[in-house]
This record gives sequence, structure tokens and C-alpha cells, in this order.
Amino acid sequence: MKIALLGYGTVGSGTAECLRNHPMEGVDLAKVLDKRKIDEIKEILTDNIDDILNDGTIETVVEVMGGEEPAYTFVKSALLKGKNVVSANKLMLSRHYDELVNLAREKNLSLSFSAAAGGSIPWLFNLLRAKRVDNILNVGGVMNGTTNFILDKMQTGDGADFDKVLKEAQAKGYAEADPTADIDGLDVKAKIALSCDIAYSKMIDPDDIPALGIRYVTKNDIDNFKAMGYNCRLIGRGEKIGDEVAVYVEPMLFKPDAAEYTLAGAGNIISYLGEKMGKQSYFGLGAGKEPTGAAIVNDLYDIAAGISIFDMAQCVGKTKCRPELVCHEYYVRTNTEFDRSIVKETVGDNAFITKKISVASMHELAQKIIADGKEIFAASIAE
Ligand SMILES: NC(=O)c1ccc[n+]([C@@H]2O[C@H](COP(=O)([O-])OP(=O)(O)OC[C@H]3O[C@@H](n4cnc5c(N)ncnc54)[C@H](OP(=O)(O)O)[C@@H]3O)[C@@H](O)[C@H]2O)c1
Repeated sequence: MKIALLGYGTVGSGTAECLRNHPMEGVDLAKVLDKRKIDEIKEILTDNIDDILNDGTIETVVEVMGGEEPAYTFVKSALLKGKNVVSANKLMLSRHYDELVNLAREKNLSLSFSAAAGGSIPWLFNLLRAKRVDNILNVGGVMNGTTNFILDKMQTGDGADFDKVLKEAQAKGYAEADPTADIDGLDVKAKIALSCDIAYSKMIDPDDIPALGIRYVTKNDIDNFKAMGYNCRLIGRGEKIGDEVAVYVEPMLFKPDAAEYTLAGAGNIISYLGEKMGKQSYFGLGAGKEPTGAAIVNDLYDIAAGISIFDMAQCVGKTKCRPELVCHEYYVRTNTEFDRSIVKETVGDNAFITKKISVASMHELAQKIIADGKEIFAASIAE
């Protein structure tokens, strides 16, 4: 099987390296699309997508360019030309899931995307297998290594400030120069959307998912969590409630008996709850050149062997996310006035625990306070 890589950045070069180190007979990297001149692959490099789309000998395209466009157009064109696709592009896949999954099914092609959520952790792969034999009641967990690195650093050792730890995460290559996608929960929105798409066979628009990030967490908050016996993580979750799905992204406080409590560094821990199988969790490295490259090569080898688990992915329409259907108690710290009837108890300066309120109400309140130029940090309390 001849393959082409679209993008030779972190993940693209990691994929090529893994293919070189762990070759499979009959699988060859035939072309690479990138804008830059790259000496090590100059014989197979092109900057023209048509060189790949119009090459009938290329059976499978690996999209690791990132961004919505032109990645979406290239992936759709590859499927229309009869090529299998492997992609790690959570943003593009989560926004076009229904169309691309159905197009691949219609054309009897594989569209595989293990690396799009969980990186090297076999999360989506096992979720597809679990879904085949059980009713999935909820999915989600810690799906972003950058924010876990930041929260872990703030919660261990001498407890540094958010800004200082963010700079350290950037220096170590965990966080981008513009950290918005990580710290405001946008990356998790795409990953939890894809996880729900698979678990419930209906597309959730990632842009509809309410998200609270960790931008405003302070050392004082961390001290309050410690005093209450909690550790904070940024989570994405999708819960099946009757025929509806409640999806949200928010910081959550965990007690020591939860696996999430001790999750160190840039780790991920993602779980599903099956009606019959119970809770099963997957943890490890959710990103990085080599782990992500390895996940992509595994998808390629499954396609070459004719056993791609992603061929089971289905999408029968769209569904709204319904955050009003789930209620939590929240830790809230804010420097502004608001409706005090939601307060259950005070836990520090301007900090309190709410009564149980819906995820939708808490997110609306927080977004209003932020839009008014005031500060708020809110984290739900895990049950
Ligand atoms: N990094 C990770 O650990 C990780 C983990 C899981 C999933 N992913 C996903 O994998 C994808 C790739 O991430 P990455 O970290 O490898 O990104 P990256 O390092 O920025 O690599 C992307 C490469 O694609 C090239 N490219 C972009 N648009 C192009 C175009 N129109 N024509 C030709 N080349 C183009 C870029 O060139 P220029 O730099 O010149 O634009 C760059 O070399 C993203 O969707 C990301 O979300 C990443």
C-alpha cells in the first residue's frame, strides 16, 4: 500500500520515523506534501496536492497538517478519489464528522483517527470496541496534557503561580506560544465531541459545547482545593441522558480515591462507563511526535491488513448538547456580585461552594461575568 503524508511537522515527521523504524511489508511512504523544503525527504516531497490526489497508485492519505482548511478539502477530495484517510486533526474531523464518516462508508473506504483524541492512548479504538457490545452511558476525562502539566505543577511542590507555570510549559514545548486552545478548553471540545460522536453515533457540534478553562485559576484557589482535600483537572465529558447527550468542558475537583487525583505531568486519563462493562479507563501520553506518530502508523497497518476498527464508526444525524440536563456542586471564586441564592457555603476570600446547579446555569453565569470584564474561576466537584 502506497501512502502519502500531508504535512511534515511534529506528527508528520514522527509518522515517517515510525514507518522507517517499524516497516511493514508492502507499506511504502511514496509522497509528502509540505510547504517547506525538507532535504531528508526531497525525493518524495511536493507542494502540490494534485500530485497526490491524481496519483492512482497512492491508496492511503495521512492528513497531519492541522487546521480546518485546506485539510478538510484535501481529506474530502482524497475520499472522493477512492483513497483511505488517516487523520490526527481533531478540529477538522470534529467539525465535519458526519459528512466524512458517511462519505467513507458510502465509498467503502477507511477513515481512521486514533491520534485525534488521546494521542498514543488507544482510546477511540477501544471506545469503538466497547460501543459494539455495550450501551455507553458516559465518556470523558483529562484529555489535554498541557493543562494537566500546568495544574499538576501548581498543585505539587511549592505551588507556583499560573503565569510562571504557563511560561515553563511553553519553554518545555508542552504549550504553544498562543496557549488559548489549551487553557480555554477548545482542544478538549474537539476531543470530547469526537468521543461522543463515536459513543453515540450522532454528531455533536464542537462549537456548541460549553467550556470553562483554567485561565483564571490562582494559587489561592489551589490552597483552597488542598484545604478541602481535592486536586483540580480540566475535563471533557459527555453523558447520555435518555435520548439526549449532555456535553461540557470544565475544571473538576477530584478526591484522592479518584484515578484523576494523582495524574502527573502532561498525562491524560480518559474513561467510558458501559452499562454492562462498568467504568474502564485509559491513561498515558496524549501527545508528542513519537507517540502520536506511532498511533498513526498503527492505523495505517490496520488498514493495510484490512482490519480497521474505525470502519465501524457510524453517524446517523446531529444532536444538540444539553448541558442543562446535568447538575453539579461548584467551587466558585469571583470578585463580582451575583445571585447569592446559589451559595451553599463559604470556603475562603470570595470563594464558596454552590448548591447543585446545572452545568448550563454555571457556564452562563461564568461567561456573563467574564464578558463584563470581571474574573471568575469555577470548578465542579466530582461525585
Ligand atoms: N503535536 C501533537 O502532539 C499532536 C497530537 C495529536 C494530534 N495532533 C494533531 O495533528 C495535526 C498536526 O499537528 P503538528 O503538531 O504535527 O503540527 P505542525 O508541527 O504545525 O505540522 C503541520 C505541518 O503541515 C504543514 N502544512 C500546513 N498547511 C499546509 C498546506 N496547506 N500545504 C502544505 N503543508 C502544510 C506545516 O507547514 P508550515 O509550518 O509551513 O505551515 C507543517 O510542516 C494537528 O491537527 C494536531 O491537532 C498533534
